[in-house]
Amino acid sequence: MRANRNETDPVDWPGPANLPHNPEPYKIKMVEPIRLPSREERERVLAEAGFNVFNIPADKVFIDLLTDSGTGAMSEQQWARMMEGDESYAGSTSFHRLRRAVEQITGFPFMLPTHQGRAAENVLHSVLVGEGDVVPGNSHFDTTKAHIEYRSACAIDCTVDECFEPSVEAPFKGDVDLDKLAAVVDEHGRERIPFVLITVTNNTGGGQPVSLENVRDVAAFCRARGLKLFLDAARFAENAWFIQQRERGEAGRSVREIAREMFELADGATMSAKKDAIVNMGGLLMLRDEDLFHKCSSFNILFEGYLTYGGLSGRDMEAVAEGLYEGTGEDYLAARIGQVRRFGDSLTDAGIPIVRPPGGHAIYVDAKSFLPGMNQERFPAQAIVCELYLEGAIRGVEIGTVLADRDPETGNNRPPKLELVRLTIPRRVYTDNQLAYVKQVLVNLHSRSDMIRGLRFTYEPAILRHFHARFEWESSR
Ligand code: F0G
Repeated sequence: MRANRNETDPVDWPGPANLPHNPEPYKIKMVEPIRLPSREERERVLAEAGFNVFNIPADKVFIDLLTDSGTGAMSEQQWARMMEGDESYAGSTSFHRLRRAVEQITGFPFMLPTHQGRAAENVLHSVLVGEGDVVPGNSHFDTTKAHIEYRSACAIDCTVDECFEPSVEAPFKGDVDLDKLAAVVDEHGRERIPFVLITVTNNTGGGQPVSLENVRDVAAFCRARGLKLFLDAARFAENAWFIQQRERGEAGRSVREIAREMFELADGATMSAKKDAIVNMGGLLMLRDEDLFHKCSSFNILFEGYLTYGGLSGRDMEAVAEGLYEGTGEDYLAARIGQVRRFGDSLTDAGIPIVRPPGGHAIYVDAKSFLPGMNQERFPAQAIVCELYLEGAIRGVEIGTVLADRDPETGNNRPPKLELVRLTIPRRVYTDNQLAYVKQVLVNLHSRSDMIRGLRFTYEPAILRHFHARFEWESSR
């Protein structure tokens, strides 16, 4: 390995040494115009949206960092494969191509296509999760948690403590704490635990990776206790990249080898293909056990569609198959994660408090430090999201008290340990120059943070309020 490698250089980078960072392995063939609305228009649009950026029409957004989900730019190869989509109801060529790609990348022998990640969760949970069950894991994603709670079961967060300290630089802040996991199993008993779930990367906890050692340890623990282990593999390729870059003894292995080992340690995985498979729509449920596959198949037919298309058309499956290979390409991952890293480091250099180190797919602004003194019940992260739109027509997303919903038993807000604004970077979409614009907008806000007001609800839905609640500014600071 070269002595002067950067953290985000691919291992076999054949280019010149001493580059500040390696360039993107693609050029832009098609562009989509974006427009910055006037300040007056932004104020009107935000008020009409009830201070909830999910309600803002996308053409009123200049830089859209709401999510990396389904927002990536597909390649010419993906578009070309879509022309070859076989739309047969049963047994389409496209399904078989997708199955081959899944087998090659993950090793799972059984696979059900679904329309997106949460649909795969719905199918799996319909079979495995029942009332009173407990699903431990590392900061479940909100749809996962909602699917568990919808079945009157409970998701228990066993992430390592350092995940909740934004300024601590540690390589694998997404890891599961085995002591916490053991305590949950001891308290609830293995009969009430349908599976343990590891989310790679840990989206809710800052896009932080999970080490391979941790996946191995959790797998060994689950085997010893007779528990199933599942992965939420939405960002498996980014996680495998971090393992290759950061974990002792892994630098010599390819991202695909590492990803394959992660999957081999698990009994199955759900995957939103809208992230690392770089498609606009798609999901997968992948399984090792044939009996479980048959049980899930019935629910797949009920909720999604026949077994060989699930929630997808043939052309969608072609794009996912191609995307699984592209999304695990090392020169692509180097450029992708390098961009997020540079953006994050530029914010840190400018004094903006973010979760360190930068995650794989997003930068998370630490709202508690950005607005010290604003109680979480006043929704500081949501306030920053609104100000980002007003200042620069940038759309970020709150990952804080609004998202956390109320406790179903007490009805109280349950402010999470981390109150964050996620600035999510779509794949192959924005340039560094556009992210420099975002940085400047944040710097402007930070310099007048003492002027930023909190928010209160004018409409609060009973569940998943994040997506359609409405707010107003508090009358004073
Ligand atoms: N798991 C994780 C870790 C996710 O981040 C998501 C979606 C899902 C499951 C559900 O997948 O959207 O295809 O149904 N995350 C998006 C986000 C929505 O913005 O982080 P889906």
